[in-house]
Amino acid sequence: MNRWFYFNLTVLIVAAWQVFQTFPSIPTHVLVGFIGLCFVLFNWTRHAVFSTIRNTTDRKRKIKLANISKKIMPFHRWIGTSALVIISVHALLVLDLFGFNWRNLKVVSGLLAGLILIAMVTTGWMRLVRPTGRKRKAHLYIGLSLFCFIAIHILL
Ligand code: HEM
Ligand code: HEM
Repeated sequence: MNRWFYFNLTVLIVAAWQVFQTFPSIPTHVLVGFIGLCFVLFNWTRHAVFSTIRNTTDRKRKIKLANISKKIMPFHRWIGTSALVIISVHALLVLDLFGFNWRNLKVVSGLLAGLILIAMVTTGWMRLVRPTGRKRKAHLYIGLSLFCFIAIHILL
């Protein structure tokens, strides 16, 4: 398994743990945030799969992973766009509850992650409409920073 699978799994487990701590009365805004996270991580796993394809020497495995990746691609754009819609609902629910406060690090880190998610979806559509090397790099590096900001948002 590529190390990215483990990074993604760690964030998912930590978030699930945070959500579980509010059990049995899980607040809606927390549940919606968790669903949004699952959508983002599903798409981000594409990176883990691509890294595995690049690094493995086993030809059969390469072909198998490339085929799975191809089958999932039609869903990628809609899962990414839905993630943005779900996270917007999460943000609206949160702001309605807590209001905006610069000193609330959870809100600030969430807003930063949300802005990066907007950039991620935008570069995704730009890449789909007219692919270029620069857009590919942008979509990838924005994805890396999105992952880091989400990890901070959840750990805080
Ligand atoms: C990609 C974007 C985002 C993801 C994946 C995400 C995910 C999550 C998850 C899973 C939780 C529940 C677990 C925990 O408490 O750590 C959470 C909580 C929270 N999120 Fe987000 N979030 C995102 C964006 C935002 C935005 C834009 C805001 C700002 C309005 C925000 C504000 C908060 C706050 C204040 C909490 C704590 C809620 C509480 O303790 O009751 N998040 N987020
Ligand atoms: C949560 C949001 C998203 C995440 C985390 C994400 C992540 C990724 C990753 C990791 C890759 C592979 C990068 C590489 O090594 O080239 C990729 C490729 C791609 N993404 Fe996204 N993406 C998201 C949203 C979108 C959206 C909304 C679109 C809109 C159409 C999109 C379009 C594409 C396209 C066209 C590719 C190239 C596919 C390929 O070469 O097989 N992405 N994305």
